[in-house]
Amino acid sequence: MSSDVSTRPTAPQPWPFGKPGTGMFRNDRSRLENEVNLRSCGLLHPRAAEFHTETLQGLDPVEIMTYPVYRETYALVAEHLGVDPGSLVLTAGSDPALDLIVRSFPLARIVIHTPNFGGWAKFAHIGKQTIDHVAPDPDSGGFRLADLLTALRKGPRAIVVVTQPHSYTGQVHDAQELTDLARGVGEHGSLLVLDTAYLAFTHGGEELVRGVAGQPHVLRVNGFSKGYGLSGARIAAVVGHPRTVNRVFDLDPEAAVSGIAMALLRAALRHDEYFQAIRDEIRHLRERFARLVESAVPGWRARESGGNFVAFDVPDPAQARAATSRLLRHGFITRDMSGLPSLPAAVRIAVADEPSALRVVDILGDWSSGR
Ligand SMILES: Cc1ncc(COP(=O)(O)O)c(C=O)c1O
Repeated sequence: MSSDVSTRPTAPQPWPFGKPGTGMFRNDRSRLENEVNLRSCGLLHPRAAEFHTETLQGLDPVEIMTYPVYRETYALVAEHLGVDPGSLVLTAGSDPALDLIVRSFPLARIVIHTPNFGGWAKFAHIGKQTIDHVAPDPDSGGFRLADLLTALRKGPRAIVVVTQPHSYTGQVHDAQELTDLARGVGEHGSLLVLDTAYLAFTHGGEELVRGVAGQPHVLRVNGFSKGYGLSGARIAAVVGHPRTVNRVFDLDPEAAVSGIAMALLRAALRHDEYFQAIRDEIRHLRERFARLVESAVPGWRARESGGNFVAFDVPDPAQARAATSRLLRHGFITRDMSGLPSLPAAVRIAVADEPSALRVVDILGDWSSGR
């Protein structure tokens, strides 16, 4: 009689590779039915969706069936950002770009305004770096770049991070503040990383960073997820002095960049004015949305934002919790930021398009008036 070996109980095998992994960065989220994700702040505008659908329909199968080539994309990104192709590194999104930077410049310390994009905490944890968290100014609630320099000078060389505009509050730093920070970071022998994930939504944003990007101790991480609706494609560019970006190239950053992502980005950059019109619409809608929410919900105050989202200070954390839960019941995922530094009670909501923004205002208005 034959026996089925696969079902026989086996003795537990010893694990030969040291400490078992935790699987802590496994992502097993599923999409909710009809969800509108206003938490991750991707560009969800229907005209962007139409554009990408058309690009995919016309995609040359060569992009799928052969290994990617990069030159044409470098040339377009360089032209778009007004830099030389030799000062760029394409990466599979900004998130892995942070990992590449942390590994290319093994400085044991990261100095960063907190709260900030979670990628820094993740890669600092992986790389066993310490993070010096710099809180917002307690009086104004705003971030000050001078506070980063003060923290930097108290310790050894570090990676100093600025998110411009800030990814939780939308705060934008002016060109002079950035220039002063870059000078101080350079004098300290440290590296400045400017994360410009949302800068495409800041009026005159490029002018604000132009003076510092390209210096040998400055790297700019420029994602295309938010400004072009390419979050799922996974594509970004690191911009810096050629000598500095060459360090990043030593870790083979392009290996994870897909031909399909580059084709989607090239098509979008060739029609930048189409996306610029969408972003302009979102910028105007952002101001209108902020005022409409303020009048629909007494006590809610919008912070000035350079991103495609609005952060609202609200009267108490219970309100933030109840409002975000009500929105979720209607399919809108938003971020309750309550309890983060200088955000005792706050909600961040992305601005996607007019119908969804007005729907959010209605839901919040109903919730506020007890309907
Ligand atoms: C400030 C900031 N940087 C980087 C990222 C990651 O963007 P990407 O999709 O390019 O990896 C995000 C995404 O939320 C972000 O908010």
